[in-house]
Amino acid sequence: MAKTLHKPQFLIIIFILHLLTTIHSKTFSRNLSEKPHSFKKEKQTHLHFYFHDIVTGRHPTAVKVASASTTNSTLSLFGLVTMMDDPLTVGLELESKLVGRAQGMYASADLKELGFLMVLNYYFTEGKYNGSTLSILGRNAALTAVREMPVVGGTGIFRFARGYAQAKTHSFDYKSGNAVVEYDVYVLHY
Ligand SMILES: *[C@@H]1O[C@H](CO)[C@@H](O)[C@H](O)[C@H]1NC(C)=O
Ligand SMILES: *[C@@H]1O[C@H](CO)[C@@H](O)[C@H](O)[C@H]1NC(C)=O
Ligand SMILES: *[C@@H]1O[C@H](CO)[C@@H](O)[C@H](O)[C@H]1NC(C)=O
Repeated sequence: MAKTLHKPQFLIIIFILHLLTTIHSKTFSRNLSEKPHSFKKEKQTHLHFYFHDIVTGRHPTAVKVASASTTNSTLSLFGLVTMMDDPLTVGLELESKLVGRAQGMYASADLKELGFLMVLNYYFTEGKYNGSTLSILGRNAALTAVREMPVVGGTGIFRFARGYAQAKTHSFDYKSGNAVVEYDVYVLHY
């Protein structure tokens, strides 16, 4: 005949089980590499798009948010901070297909030459990339032919992303200050 548990013993067992599950849920880290298929194979992706920096006109997408009292006395506009939500298009024309936006800021961070600190997220809206982001943190010497900036991370399809972005100014209107920049982004992700 099986021994039946009395109520106090039963409660003690429940209490111990509760303690054990509580301890388990407080586990700080887990070794995921024990499961070889927990992540897919690493992929390489090349993205190509045009970035439209519109600083004047009726609908600017980049606006000055700060400057120093000495900013205008430097050739590099040191201290100028601009916030942007710039459209990214597949073609050269602003009217071509929108694939995402560059949201963040660029700040003049070089005392001598034009050198921006770029801190931004590409927020993609196209196809399978819709909702995914790539984060850029780098130096942009805007007058140099090709500038390279690191991709420091990503979300969605770009989880675990790392890579680099190359920027080439396609056109710059000295009168309006508006620029179109061609981007090639090379990224490793899963
Ligand atoms: C994590 O799993 C790997 C692969 O099984 C193993 O070599 C490694 O020792 C484990 N690390 C820890 C901290 O358990
Ligand atoms: C710097 O120059 C800009 C553009 O000419 C002007 O709008 C701004 O007021 C100037 N800032 C200072 C602090 O003089
Ligand atoms: C992107 O996703 C959002 C939210 O799920 C959706 O509203 C939108 O229509 C999608 N855009 C494209 C171009 O697929």
